[in-house]
Amino acid sequence: MEQYLKPSMEGGIFITFEGGEGCGKSSHIKALKEWFESRGFSCVITREPGGTPLAEKIRALLLERGSDEPMCALTELLLFEAARAQHVEALIRPALKAGKVVISDRFYDSTTAYQGAARALDPKTVALLNKVATSSLSPDLTIILDLPVAEGLARANLRDEGAADRMGSQSTDFYEAVRKAFLDLAKAEPERFRVVSSAGSKEETFNEILGVVRGKFGI
Ligand SMILES: Nc1ncnc2c1ncn2[C@@H]1O[C@H](COP(=O)(O)OP(=O)(O)O)[C@@H](O)[C@H]1O
Ligand SMILES: [Mg+2]
Repeated sequence: MEQYLKPSMEGGIFITFEGGEGCGKSSHIKALKEWFESRGFSCVITREPGGTPLAEKIRALLLERGSDEPMCALTELLLFEAARAQHVEALIRPALKAGKVVISDRFYDSTTAYQGAARALDPKTVALLNKVATSSLSPDLTIILDLPVAEGLARANLRDEGAADRMGSQSTDFYEAVRKAFLDLAKAEPERFRVVSSAGSKEETFNEILGVVRGKFGI
C-alpha cells in the first residue's frame, strides 16, 4: 500500500473539513483522529479561526455577539487571515514537517465561501489574502460535508440550545450562498475536494468519509 501514500509537500498529511453550520465537521474530525491513531499515525486536530493561543484570541473577537459596533466585512476578512497566518506558521507547518496527520475544522475555503461569496468581497482579494496568509499551503484533501441549510441549522440549534455565535447567526440566504460556494469550489478543483452528504446517520456519513480517506491515501 506504501506506493499509494501521497503525503503533502511538507511531509505529513493535511486534511481539512468544510461545510455549513451543524453539518458534522467537529463530530467526524474527532472520530477520524481516533481512526488514524488506531492505525499508528500521529494526528493533530485543530480549527479555524483559532488553533493557537493567539489565533484563539482572534477567534473570540470574530465570534463575539452583541457588540455595539458591527464588524465591517473587510475587518472580518483581515481578522480571519491574521488568525490563519499564525495558525499555519506556528502549528500546521511544524506538525506537517514532523510527519503528522493534521486535520483542520475549516481552512481557507471557508473564507472563500463566507467572506468571498456570501459577504460578496472581491474574490480576487480574498484569493490573494488566502494565499498570503497560508504562504501557499494547500490541503492534500478537503472534505465538504453537505447538508440542506435548514437541516444544518436545526442540528446546530439542538447542539447549542439556541445560543449561536456571531457567524452562526446569519440569514438563511447567507448560508445558501455559503453552501453553493462550497459545491462550486468542489467542482472547480475535483482533485482536492470530495463532497460527502451528511444527510444520513452519523455512522453512514463517517463510513463514507473513511472510504474517501482510505481511497485518497491508500491506508
Ligand atoms: N450524519 C451526521 N453527521 C454528523 N453529525 C450529525 C449527523 N446527524 C446528526 N448529527 C448531529 O449534528 C450536530 C452538529 O454536528 P457538529 O459536528 O457540531 O457540526 P459542525 O461542527 O459542522 O457545526 C451534532 O450534535 C451531531 O450529533
Ligand atoms: Mg463544529
